[in-house]
Amino acid sequence: MLEAIKQTADYLKSKIDGVPNTAIILGTGLGELVHEIEDKREIPYTEIPNFPISTVEGHSGKLIAGTLGGRKVLAMQGRFHYYEGYDMKQVTFPVRVFRALGIKYLFVSNAAGGMNSSFDVGDIMLIEDHINLFPEHPLRGKNFSELGTRFPDMSEAYDKSLRLMAMEIAREKNIKLQHGVYIGLQGPTFETPAEYNFLRIIGGDAVGMSTVPEVIVANHAGMKVLAFSIITDLGVTGKIVEVSHEDVQEAAKIAQPKMAEIMRTIIRRI
Ligand code: HPA
Repeated sequence: MLEAIKQTADYLKSKIDGVPNTAIILGTGLGELVHEIEDKREIPYTEIPNFPISTVEGHSGKLIAGTLGGRKVLAMQGRFHYYEGYDMKQVTFPVRVFRALGIKYLFVSNAAGGMNSSFDVGDIMLIEDHINLFPEHPLRGKNFSELGTRFPDMSEAYDKSLRLMAMEIAREKNIKLQHGVYIGLQGPTFETPAEYNFLRIIGGDAVGMSTVPEVIVANHAGMKVLAFSIITDLGVTGKIVEVSHEDVQEAAKIAQPKMAEIMRTIIRRI
């Protein structure tokens, strides 16, 4: 694994100038943030050694290097989901590579179902913490101490100072920002009403099929994480309606300029 990480990082170093300040993983329907990246250089996943290839609709599968908020960033348009059949080492491989490139911050976005009864479709939720319900752990197996410690602390998986900054910026810019706990599970089914109820009872505010693996590995690697869920549908009793992938993409599209504005402003300030 160490060899593959180094090989991929070396390849990317030859394609981009300097060390990006922040890596950004863009979720379903949230890929348009890349239009705001300037001086873009696009690298399709198919050209990157050791990179898995994204298969799900709504993800075009490329890395975009450029500047956002005046800083160098490296964005993933399209992530690797466990439900696509990748194992957790593959799902989180890009995060390993980001760290090997010297990137210190990881910003993550996703589309999620809301379980908190005060949430509406189109809301942005700042993720404060998560509950990992994936059936496989990305750190299972031999630990490489070069990459991180065997038993990583997760008491502040989502960096507090970045969260405070996000809340402050949302206030300044009059952007409604919810906050809460994200539960990650494997999908690809959306939840039954009984499952939504269970997830709310155990402490979840939003649920989705991503983010948790990447955030675990980023923490293992000592990166600072900031993450947002766009609430694309509601798993709230009385408000549950049939949900499709297209609905999720549509709702994400509407909220994304506001999330982009928060991300851009934070990147300018860190
Ligand atoms: N559940 C799981 N993943 C999702 C949802 C949901 O309700 N909405 C968007 N992604």
